[in-house]
Amino acid sequence: MQDLVFPYGRPVTGRHLVGREKEVKKILSLIGNGQSVVLSGPRRIGKTSVLLEVLRRLRRRGWFVGNVDIFGATTSVDLAEMIVKTTLKNRGISGERIIGAAKEGIERLRRAVKLKHVTEEGYEIVLSFAGETRRPADLLDEALDFPDTFASKHKKKMCLAYDEFGDLKKMDGNLIKKMRAKFQRHQSIVYIFSGSQESVMDSLFRDRKEAFYGFATPVELPPISRQAFSRYIKRTFTSENIESSPAVISRILDLTEGHPYYTQLLCQVLYYRVRGRKEIRIEQVNDAFEEASLMQQSYLEGLWSSLSRTAPLQLLICRLMASKEGASPYVELNDTKQNIYYGIRSLLRKGILRKDDGSYELVDPLFSEYLRRKG
Ligand SMILES: Nc1ncnc2c1ncn2[C@@H]1O[C@H](COP(=O)(O)OP(=O)(O)OP(=O)(O)O)[C@@H](O)[C@H]1O
Ligand SMILES: [Mg+2]
Repeated sequence: MQDLVFPYGRPVTGRHLVGREKEVKKILSLIGNGQSVVLSGPRRIGKTSVLLEVLRRLRRRGWFVGNVDIFGATTSVDLAEMIVKTTLKNRGISGERIIGAAKEGIERLRRAVKLKHVTEEGYEIVLSFAGETRRPADLLDEALDFPDTFASKHKKKMCLAYDEFGDLKKMDGNLIKKMRAKFQRHQSIVYIFSGSQESVMDSLFRDRKEAFYGFATPVELPPISRQAFSRYIKRTFTSENIESSPAVISRILDLTEGHPYYTQLLCQVLYYRVRGRKEIRIEQVNDAFEEASLMQQSYLEGLWSSLSRTAPLQLLICRLMASKEGASPYVELNDTKQNIYYGIRSLLRKGILRKDDGSYELVDPLFSEYLRRKG
């Protein structure tokens, strides 16, 4: 993955992060004012990339930073470990090594590190990983407060990001309440919450009944500007000595509708096809698009079959939007207004549909194409 000319499939930062300066600056300014942020948006729109870029810049400004990806945590102990590890990294301490040693017992930990150092640096919490009698819930309790204690001990401000935060709901409802109660007392930490399950993310922060209501300022990620993407594509091909004409770039962005993941994927596939040549022809763009679509086939089929199984009306709405731009489901579909309303609402929440200038459109250009071909 390291060598991709157009990176896809992993978050992008620095020169590969296209057209997000405004959002990055806005988040930095909120965080600078001590205001926590919630970043939500459809899948693969670039949430993690923006989040990592923000952390990268904060680190350069001398902040402590941390990133916990809830997706990777299945138990309370996993989560506790992630929080402790990402926090310790700010002092160049390998949580991996130390927690590993602690789990093998206090003796092994004693041999691995100077316990005096542990106390001086203020990370006694690793001792808890050694205690077999400790309840996982208590360990997590301690871990949730650890970044705040650690940062204030080192007289630093810290920004801690929780990615795929919506997944927490799957773990344990009480945990979320507990987090809120703790986080609002933290003096040295500003939080970023990000997640792709928009429904859960939205309700967590916008529903009065939910624990995180009003806790963080929402920041949305709009589509990336065509102009910014055009410049990036041109520049990146040029750096590989390949000429990309305005017509070629225009074709690329028409096909992907500027969707960041697909644009990078298409450009990378195209790059493999044209490398060593000087120019790109339009047919090569079309062929690369076919290839890129095939690479996404199982994902698209999965989306189709889950909708057709659980929500046939939603699938009908999607098919309509794919076949007829700007169409109104209320006019075209034969169902009650109420059912259609709920269908649309659900698709908006799942990030499958978005509203643009008063009409609905599918977020995923490849899904759109897939539906059109299926007929
Ligand atoms: N601003 C950007 N400029 C260029 N490419 C981008 C940008 N944002 C995202 N991408 C592309 O889209 C892909 C997905 O980005 P990222 O992982 O940040 O999105 P996400 O919203 O966190 O996705 P998920 O919902 O899967 O967590 C990246 O691998 C990259 O190829
Ligand atoms: Mg992500």
